[in-house]
Amino acid sequence: MKGVVLAGGLGTRMYPLTKVTNKHLLPIYNKPMIYYPIRTLVNAGIDEILIVTGGNNAGDFLRLLGDGKEFGLRHLNYTYQEGEGGIAAALGLAEYFADNGKLVVILGDNIIEGNIRSAVESFRAQQEGARILLKEVHDPQRFGVPVFDGDQIVRIEEKPPVPASSYAVIGIYMYDRRVFDFIRTLKPSERGELEITDVNNFYIREKKIAWDVLEGWWTDAGTFDSLQYACNMVAKTGANKL
Ligand code: G1P
Repeated sequence: MKGVVLAGGLGTRMYPLTKVTNKHLLPIYNKPMIYYPIRTLVNAGIDEILIVTGGNNAGDFLRLLGDGKEFGLRHLNYTYQEGEGGIAAALGLAEYFADNGKLVVILGDNIIEGNIRSAVESFRAQQEGARILLKEVHDPQRFGVPVFDGDQIVRIEEKPPVPASSYAVIGIYMYDRRVFDFIRTLKPSERGELEITDVNNFYIREKKIAWDVLEGWWTDAGTFDSLQYACNMVAKTGANKL
């Protein structure tokens, strides 16, 4: 199965840190941020990866990562996102790379303590549809939040002021080929982006989504506070443990 790391955007939430570099190149303790999501995919047995990036510093990814040898990859693919269209728009650029196969997608600022091997194995065995990962958090209003009916997810709400559960949908998603058909029908949200939550809601409406709860800590690193938290946690416990 192939993997996609989404590392575009202009990182405006983190100005001035991201004025002259891409957010995903900022340090998380002793490594550039993007190392962690790549390692997450590699540890799950994925050996073909596409990096979707954008902005003024896209060339720096090539200088940093080269052909991916450092991660044991045979080859690393890159593509370029114009402007800030949102996560789902960035994923839309991976259609050619996906070549009708299933994909594991990770946001370039999502860092985990452990690994996603068992979820990826379950998805390999899954005939079709999508698979998402959840994590209990103290601030669900910052994320996509699942609404449950028993153990079924009936919808996901993006950054709800009053969250229906204490879980976040983390930025690791597994999709079959239909994801690109869904993306084509999306309309921009209030923040002017094509939302990955809307994509997930398509799969939920068709009852074609499965979910797992991630073990170990998880954080994004897309705000000043979460960046600091990520640095502290990596320093304290390490990340991407097998
Ligand atoms: C995005 C998604 C959100 C998800 C989060 C995980 O939020 O929209 O559903 O929970 O990533 O990191 P954003 O980082 O765009 O605010």
